[in-house]
Amino acid sequence: EKGGYEHFMIKEIYEQPKAVRETMTGRVEKDNSGVEFEELKWIKEDVTAIKKIAIVACGTAYHAGIVGKYLIENLARIPVEVDVASEFRYRSPLIDDQTLTIVISQSGETLDTLAALKEAKKLGSRVLAVTNVVGSSIAREADQVIYTWAGPEIAVASTKAYTTQLIIMAMLAIYMGSLKGKLPPARVRELCQELRELPNHIYELLEDVEPIKTFAQQYGFNEDVFFLGRSLDYAVALEGALKLKEISYIHAEAYAAGELKHGTLALIIEGVPVIALATQKDVYEKMLSNIKEVKARDAVVIGIGLKGDNQIEKYVDHTIYIPATDKFLTPILSVIPLQLLAYYAAVTRGCDVDKPRNLAKSVTVE
Ligand code: F6R
Repeated sequence: EKGGYEHFMIKEIYEQPKAVRETMTGRVEKDNSGVEFEELKWIKEDVTAIKKIAIVACGTAYHAGIVGKYLIENLARIPVEVDVASEFRYRSPLIDDQTLTIVISQSGETLDTLAALKEAKKLGSRVLAVTNVVGSSIAREADQVIYTWAGPEIAVASTKAYTTQLIIMAMLAIYMGSLKGKLPPARVRELCQELRELPNHIYELLEDVEPIKTFAQQYGFNEDVFFLGRSLDYAVALEGALKLKEISYIHAEAYAAGELKHGTLALIIEGVPVIALATQKDVYEKMLSNIKEVKARDAVVIGIGLKGDNQIEKYVDHTIYIPATDKFLTPILSVIPLQLLAYYAAVTRGCDVDKPRNLAKSVTVE
């Protein structure tokens, strides 16, 4: 059932090119002219009526929501709030019939997310669910459903569900942006072309895992690891830290790199591993200064940069390059080495990778 792989998690990591491709099938138009969701069939007025979007989810799905906020705000110019479901429910959210609530859940059974969905409906909001499980409770309760076609995810740590959720967020942002007239057709075409290239890029990243395996073995016994990034890289840093914590039990913290000097820098001392993501051009120079800041305190830095970047390796100890793509799509690639790092760190430490302690695949209690 593991198809020759040692764990479900690594099998599912390797299934990502396929999962991502299937999630786009029939949605990204064959001629790259746009995105269509048969299950939505929205017209311009459906989108212009949305004054605000509230994204609600837990854990990894919440991290997909943070990326979704960036994408929807940038490409469709609609304000987006993101909340973890267990907070959203209790903060008396300001949502109404002009709000679209998007709930994201791999299993479709997470109790807090389901309760948040019901709360949103009660307040008059239309609810769109993004889930991987057909006929799940969340799919049944929502007004509309978009399925990720990741296939069954067995490992507790979510991998292919996350990348397919990111694909949905990107397609939804393009879909709404074009319906609203905010995205010129040439830009839509460019984004669609880049979307189509992603499975090959992921495949490429999965071909060369040896360096990551080596880092994981080298740093697998450190007590703390820091993940730094700005803008979309920060969203990915959050996911990288969660993945490492949940399966390898190494304490990991994700930090928006600009916040470092507001506290965390005190924890960066000699030998502390820092994973620094620097894939976003508009904040690249700022990120380099942050890298220099942690290097000055003798941290060991693994940089995640874009292929073709010939600067980053001058400032870090090791570099992992990801294929260059549209800046809004880089999270779908930059998360791959972080998933692998978590996996190999957990294997090195002899952890039960597929069933980490105290965690359940589907959280149906509060
Ligand atoms: C992390 C992980 C959890 C889930 C969270 C939400 O790897 O798997 O954080 O993402 O429990 O689960 P779903 O998406 O099923 O609602």
